[in-house]
Amino acid sequence: MGMKKSLVLILALALGALALAADGEKVYQTYCMSCHQANGKGITGAFPPLVEVVPEYLEKGELGRQFLIHVVLFGLQGQITAGGGTFNSMMPPYGNQLSDDQVAAVLNYVAKAWGNDKLLPKDFKDFTPDEVKAERGKKLSPMQVYEEWKKLTQ
Ligand code: HEC
Repeated sequence: MGMKKSLVLILALALGALALAADGEKVYQTYCMSCHQANGKGITGAFPPLVEVVPEYLEKGELGRQFLIHVVLFGLQGQITAGGGTFNSMMPPYGNQLSDDQVAAVLNYVAKAWGNDKLLPKDFKDFTPDEVKAERGKKLSPMQVYEEWKKLTQ
C-alpha cells in the first residue's frame, strides 16, 4: 500500500475509534445525575454520594470493582451506608439501556470525577467494555447485588 493510502487508513481508524468511544461524563449527565447530582454528593437521606465512596469500593480489589459494574447493570436494593449517611432505597438497573462501552465509560467517569482520581488505589486500571460484558452474563437481581454490598463492607 502507498504511503498516502496508509495515512488515510490510519486517520480513518483513529476517527472511528474516537466516534465509538462512549463519553462517560455525558452518560453520567443523562442517566445518573438526576439522583447522584452534578457534584456527585447525592441527596441526604435519598441518594447516596459517589464522591470518596467509589474509590473506597475500588480499594477492596476485584470484588469491589465487580460490585460497581453490577450496581450499574443490575441495580441495588437494601439498606446501605455511604459517606456517613444511611440509605434504604432502590437504584434501578441500567443494563438494558447502556452498552458495555457506556457502562465502562460512566464507571471511569465516577472513579475519577470530583477529586476521586486522587483517592484511587495505585494499581487502578480503567474499566473496559470487555470486563462489563463478562459481568452482564451473571444476570443478578438488585437484592443479590445488595448481598455483595454486605460482603464487601462487613
Ligand atoms: C433514580 C435514582 C438513581 C439513578 C438515576 C442512579 N442511581 Fe445510583 N443509586 C441510587 C440509590 C437510591 C442507591 C442506593 C440504593 C440502596 O439504598 O440500596 C444508589 C447506589 C449507587 C451506587 C452504590 C453507591 C454508594 O454510595 O455506596 C453506585 C456506585 C451508583 N449508585 C452509581 C450510579 C450510576 C453510575 C448511575 C448512572 C448510570 C446511577 N447510579 C443512577 C439511585 C440512583
